[in-house]
Amino acid sequence: METDFESRFVDAEYSASDDNDIELSLRPKILSDYIGQDKVKENLSVYIEAARQRNEPLDHVLLYGPPGLGKTTLAGIIANEMGVNFRVTSGPAIEKPGDLAALLTNLSEGDVLFIDEIHRLSRAVEEVLYPAMEDNELDIIIGKGPSARSIRLDLNKFTLVGATTRAGQLSAPLRDRFGVIFRLELYTAEQLSEIVTRSANILGIDIEPEGAMEIASRSRGTPRIANRFLKRARDFAQVVGDGSITKEVASIALAKMEVDNLGLDSIDRLILTTMIRNYNGGPVGLETIAAATGEEAITIEDVYEPYLMQIGFLSRTPRGRCVTPAGYAHLGMVMPGQQKLDV
Ligand code: ADE
Repeated sequence: METDFESRFVDAEYSASDDNDIELSLRPKILSDYIGQDKVKENLSVYIEAARQRNEPLDHVLLYGPPGLGKTTLAGIIANEMGVNFRVTSGPAIEKPGDLAALLTNLSEGDVLFIDEIHRLSRAVEEVLYPAMEDNELDIIIGKGPSARSIRLDLNKFTLVGATTRAGQLSAPLRDRFGVIFRLELYTAEQLSEIVTRSANILGIDIEPEGAMEIASRSRGTPRIANRFLKRARDFAQVVGDGSITKEVASIALAKMEVDNLGLDSIDRLILTTMIRNYNGGPVGLETIAAATGEEAITIEDVYEPYLMQIGFLSRTPRGRCVTPAGYAHLGMVMPGQQKLDV
């Protein structure tokens, strides 16, 4: 049966397939079920409570941070806690100002409009968004050439929740129109272990605490990755184990997926070894690393770098990226000018 939350969740992208159904079922629906991001939760709960007391929509919210940390989930929770519809779209999906106008005119009073990858909106679309965010007004141009007319429509009040991997990519006028700006942080292994345990419960997967911790500590601070590993570890537990995810089963599953004990995958290792072998460990520019590894610069910057920097394997300097001594040590390689010590 559709829950109230799901019926308010209005977007084809997030409903149709089984996998998406699983994703949806794992998403917490209320703030108190959301694990981690404590500072965000604390402030958000105050803003939600205050807006509810005043019977007003929540101010526009910008969420930024690396992919997979739960930006969509948080936006859904905001809608649910405010008791309004949740409409989902993304920057690249809104091609023309008319597309955005259609979305905005269909919003009911107080609805949450979630725009993922909001930094990818075109200039022309952004121009339509400004008066909508500021004054709940829509300026649209009807017709072309000398007979074109501009008309102004009143919109229902709404909350825009924008998500982006980097706030710096947003134009200043758009960024300035958000009243609430939150940066999501990578999760600790303990928080991810809680998330894995919660997901296993929902999916009816048998997991030992040590198994959950093994997955958590190798999921690079990211719930989406932890939940993916959980499902693959379940496959291994079923086929090569007795159905339960023990530390050993989790460890076998992750090794088979070429994920090492710190959660680095083959691409992370390729980035580091390429920097070491071809560029003496840096400094080397992002575009150069991208060309040498065959990965896109933006993927390296958004997906791989945040975790490599968090664990102290990569540093960013004005002259480019460098592999740190800890990065060398993890790969068992010797830094130029240093001796490998047998200890
Ligand atoms: N699933 C994905 N992200 C989550 C979070 N932060 N808390 C609980 N479950 C989650």
